[in-house]
Amino acid sequence: MTAWFEKSFGETYLELYAHRDEQEARENLRGLMSLISCDKDEPLLDLCCGAGRYLCALREMGFRQLYGLDLSETLLDAAKQTLAAESLDNRCQVELIATDMRCIPFENHFCAILSLFTSFGYFEQDVENRVVLEGVYHALKPGGVFVLDHMNRQYVVEHLTPMDEGKRGGRWVRNERRITPDDRRVEKTTTIRDANGHEETFHESVRLYTPEELSAILKEVGFVDLALYGGFNGEPLQADSPRLLVIAHKPEEPA
Ligand SMILES: C[S@@+](CC[C@H](N)C(=O)[O-])C[C@H]1O[C@@H](n2cnc3c(N)ncnc32)[C@H](O)[C@@H]1O
Repeated sequence: MTAWFEKSFGETYLELYAHRDEQEARENLRGLMSLISCDKDEPLLDLCCGAGRYLCALREMGFRQLYGLDLSETLLDAAKQTLAAESLDNRCQVELIATDMRCIPFENHFCAILSLFTSFGYFEQDVENRVVLEGVYHALKPGGVFVLDHMNRQYVVEHLTPMDEGKRGGRWVRNERRITPDDRRVEKTTTIRDANGHEETFHESVRLYTPEELSAILKEVGFVDLALYGGFNGEPLQADSPRLLVIAHKPEEPA
């Protein structure tokens, strides 16, 4: 059976999420860079880079060795095109890797790994989501930093909009959201109907973590010096923070 995340990140995703653009990426990174220390000459991985908006913004900021990893060939193609179109100079190398986030093919390589805009918690089994964190840990150099930008569980539960719909570019788009009965995931079904009545449906299902739960898993994996925020500008994490931003480090001398 095809998993939801193998189907939901194609051309339609690019259209529906066009507002999640490079300008937003630039603003988020501007805040983030004041929260982490990271040498721009060292390799950085954008895990689940999608269409490359963060890679473009990172290159603009002066990073020299960028890597993007994603499962979607469609989004990676879009990233390749945008990176080529916006190329400023050739002092920055960008490598795009088409693979699953559970199989990061590096060890002790990156000074930083970023997982941005809810690119985590996609797998049904907790152990598989943990495998991603273990892969991140192995792929970081000692002292490297991991940034995880996820939904804040409490905010999602308290502010869930069960249904919205409207016209987008000549098509009717309907989103239905629910928290699973076990309270562990948020799920979304998007139905798109075109002018001829043709319908397409996409699903999303993302594991929600309390800050305590996520911190405990990261520590079990080996991360240290965790800092939790409610946003990219270092906002304190509160019940009504829409985002949960976790910054975690691989120890200088791993156990
Ligand atoms: C919500 S998007 C975020 C993309 C990007 N970080 C951004 O901010 O625009 C999630 C991304 O995860 C990718 N993805 C989904 N499942 C994946 C998997 N199993 N392994 C690697 N990438 C995956 C999707 O293709 C998509 O690009």
